[in-house]
Amino acid sequence: MSRGSLCAVGIGIRAPEQTSREAAARIERAEKVFSLVADPLAQYWVASLNPSTESLTYLYARDKERRQTYLDMVERILEEVRAQRSVCAVSYGHPGVAAFPLHESVRRARSEGFDAEMLAAVSAEDCLFADLGVDPMVGGCRSYEATDFLVHGRGADPASNLVLWQIGAIGEKSWKAEAGVWNRDGLAVLVDTLLATYPSEHEVVVYEAARFPATPPKIERVALRDVANAGVTPLSTLYVPPSVESTVDEAMARRLGYL
Ligand SMILES: C[S@@+](CC[C@H](N)C(=O)[O-])C[C@H]1O[C@@H](n2cnc3c(N)ncnc32)[C@H](O)[C@@H]1O
Repeated sequence: MSRGSLCAVGIGIRAPEQTSREAAARIERAEKVFSLVADPLAQYWVASLNPSTESLTYLYARDKERRQTYLDMVERILEEVRAQRSVCAVSYGHPGVAAFPLHESVRRARSEGFDAEMLAAVSAEDCLFADLGVDPMVGGCRSYEATDFLVHGRGADPASNLVLWQIGAIGEKSWKAEAGVWNRDGLAVLVDTLLATYPSEHEVVVYEAARFPATPPKIERVALRDVANAGVTPLSTLYVPPSVESTVDEAMARRLGYL
């Protein structure tokens, strides 16, 4: 009998093209697979690799707090690890980016003495850098979950790139079935907050990476003031380019012999 173990993998945004061979092999070899993949085609592909695949999306429910859904997912995954099975938990994108259930499952499995690991994968932000031609090392890049950005007053640096995740679900604790924006008022609050740092005509991008082969990404360029009326969905990510040039700290540059 095998010893219980857990491997968390991601299949990228556009599976199977963006899925690593290593991740696909882990899915195939596992005794039990759990998938947290929303897209039916990707779900079908994962199940075709391993017939033990169980989708955990049935745990979402209207008016149920997402946090509770995530804890239920963790419990279900751990149940099988504790039953001494080799388990593979699969998410879309990167399994460690905005993916509490997978991080928590790995943490819990380790704390209970099981082998647990996470494999890196292609996230939505990786696709954004490629599709929009953004190098996050030029000017730096701040990346926040949108509600976290607002609630913690993180603040933006107008000389750096800014990426905001989950702009379609700002302030939403529960799950909704709607394909469009879940909270347009929350989006308006985000715009209001960003207007303290950027000019209202500053061009930003409401971005959605292509999920299917041979389809283009959705790249909607709008003035910041118009974001609340843009075609935002639960899959949208907001990219805000720098609005000002970076300045040089001359004393520091001199100290480093960089001038
Ligand atoms: C729960 S997070 C999952 C992130 C995922 N684990 C990853 O690595 O990309 C959901 C958020 O990821 C971003 N996202 C997911 N799919 C996307 C896509 N196709 N294009 C752009 N952003 C996407 C959006 O900000 C969305 O609200």
